[in-house]
Amino acid sequence: MKSKGLIVWLTGLSGAGKSTIAKELEANLRQYNRLVEVLDGDVVRTNLSKGLGFSREDRETNIRRIGFVANLLSRNGVIVIVAAISPYRNTRDELKKTTHNFIEVYVSTPLAVCETRDVKGLYNKARKGELKAFTGIDDPYEEPLNPDVICNTVEEQVDESVSKLMTELNRLGHL
Ligand code: ADX
Repeated sequence: MKSKGLIVWLTGLSGAGKSTIAKELEANLRQYNRLVEVLDGDVVRTNLSKGLGFSREDRETNIRRIGFVANLLSRNGVIVIVAAISPYRNTRDELKKTTHNFIEVYVSTPLAVCETRDVKGLYNKARKGELKAFTGIDDPYEEPLNPDVICNTVEEQVDESVSKLMTELNRLGHL
């Protein structure tokens, strides 16, 4: 039987841990011999979305492009893991309706924690006003109202978040 594809869409603030969870989940799924692809906002913005900025319009374009590619892959049996801030509820809801097997995962790390970690030093720049329209500082993040899974990276280690996701995928018949 052909494996079912799906989109595991990780949304959350910059530095919330989306990419880390995505990579770990990818490695886990490969052990099940599944076709897996990761679409990471930081990477997509160097090619597919090169030239786009962080205005509402550009972020929506970025997210719709990622959704478009994710849909092409997932309908051919690939498990697509997306790691992108995707700050707007409407855009995520639109993709939920128009794509194939969309699972919304909220990586719910609070702003204060992301800001303390500040892995890329961008929050510091945003606080100093050197970076404008930074999500969570002077640009909105609309959290999901009814996500399929919540990963709390303050209370959970990466492997706990990943096993929670694996349990959900199993429950949905995807493994
Ligand atoms: S999204 O809003 O369009 O979904 P995306 O996930 O692709 O964003 O890219 C976010 C990454 O871009 C951040 O992790 C950060 O490294 C970088 N970045 C640069 N400027 C900004 C900004 N103004 N707001 C958020 N992230 C930014």
